[in-house]
Amino acid sequence: MCIYLGIDIGTSGTKTLAINGRGKILAEATSLYPSYHPKPLWSEQDPEDWWQATVKTVRQVVRKAKLKKTDVKAIGLSGQMHGSVFLDKRDRVIRRALLWNDQRTAAECDELESRAGGRSELIRMVANPALTGFTAPKILWLRNHEPKQFDRTVKVLLPKDDVRRRMTGEYATDVSDASGMLLLDVAKRDWSTELLSKLELDPSLFAKCYESEESTGQLTKEAAKELGLSTECIVVGGAGDCAAGAVGNGIVSRGTLSTSIGTSGIMFVHCDEVDVDPQGRLHTFCHAVHGKWHMMGVSLSGGGCLQWFRNRMCEAEIAQAKRSKVDPYDTLVAEASKIAHGSEGLFFLPYLSGERTPHADPDARACFIGLTLAHSRGHMVRAIMEGVAYAMRDSLEIIRGLDVPVRQIRASGGGSKIPLWRQIQADVFGQKVVTLNAEEGPAYGVALLAAVGAGAFKDIEEACSATIRVVKEKAPNRKAAKYHDQAFPIYQDLYRALKDDFKRISAVEHGS
Ligand code: XUL
Repeated sequence: MCIYLGIDIGTSGTKTLAINGRGKILAEATSLYPSYHPKPLWSEQDPEDWWQATVKTVRQVVRKAKLKKTDVKAIGLSGQMHGSVFLDKRDRVIRRALLWNDQRTAAECDELESRAGGRSELIRMVANPALTGFTAPKILWLRNHEPKQFDRTVKVLLPKDDVRRRMTGEYATDVSDASGMLLLDVAKRDWSTELLSKLELDPSLFAKCYESEESTGQLTKEAAKELGLSTECIVVGGAGDCAAGAVGNGIVSRGTLSTSIGTSGIMFVHCDEVDVDPQGRLHTFCHAVHGKWHMMGVSLSGGGCLQWFRNRMCEAEIAQAKRSKVDPYDTLVAEASKIAHGSEGLFFLPYLSGERTPHADPDARACFIGLTLAHSRGHMVRAIMEGVAYAMRDSLEIIRGLDVPVRQIRASGGGSKIPLWRQIQADVFGQKVVTLNAEEGPAYGVALLAAVGAGAFKDIEEACSATIRVVKEKAPNRKAAKYHDQAFPIYQDLYRALKDDFKRISAVEHGS
């Protein structure tokens, strides 16, 4: 048997699945781990937890699918992007990794742009501006704030690449994930020696770059034993979770865009050329498709907004759910379904953890605006769903404005499993939204890349067309779409009007 594993080192946990040569999922397993927030805006994880979750889920999947250890021919790794694993010369982890949603590096972003010779020079070298979540500012932060730890650092790896190191003993990465370090010459698909030298960072700190389907090595004896697999098993380059998720949605050709409502909200579009947003609002990264690129807008709080509302505002329902078995999400969505589009003039700005695209503003705050005595909880839930869709439309408008074609929108992620949220997306985007047979996201995308790497398919385009198809679609409701076209500029103006106040709130809160 020829079996391929996809492993996604996510923020809440690791998910592993096994597929056969036709892309059919045979088994899957998930294991959760904590994040640490030692100070406001800080977000860290322990790389050891990723490895333990990997071992546990691989073993579970092998057992559930009744595989022999030699059945597994290749592994694809996906992971949360931008995180920083700092290793010493004996491969020991120096400190907890700083994650993609850590916001401590505002000063280092300024330092980075000034060392690069300004924002547009930085965009010329690495296709993107400095954002607090990216990896390069985290490295400068270590140098500035924990210089002794920095001096001991000999390698900086991304989360999934540290798991790879423990599997294969190799320091390797793939071009899609490496793009989010802000040190990659995205056009050339290799490290920018020009930027590294301006930042005084030694190129030997970084892993070797591969395309996503290329083999980066085989399992070592120790890793094979721990995982219950064979040393014949290869590990392919894999991809950052956004590119991996897009592959899992079949976004591998021009004109296709995927929306993903997970914790964040992501708009991801395939590009045949390196299209760069000169204003740096969208990210331009290498795609997991060999020799191709993608553009992406990230709203930091997508499904996370509904999760926040459920966790913080529905404690009674959560307590009751233990007895009644009624999922509080179902109750909230049922209430929102009774409310007409527009939530009777109630707006929600979804900036619960600041915002990345398009504002790049760590001080932005979430708000409900337009409350009246007539509004109920259902209105608030609907306004949250509409607000998240508006935030995603912000990215879509920039993509459309750069003349990148968007012929088909494919919805994915936990949020898009809610039919009402899919309809709201179609109405707010003013375009049909389709869903697919494959709903497994990044782990599935990298399992397909592993299958390509092992020769089961010619390339990832062939793998996707053999396995992924459209199963449902939602067309926009004409009246609702017209309403949202009028309401969207109001949504945009609300942020502009409040932007300076958000800064003042932060300043007064932090006593400066
Ligand atoms: C992408 C990003 C997140 C993380 C976590 O730029 O920051 O999607 O990859 O999933």
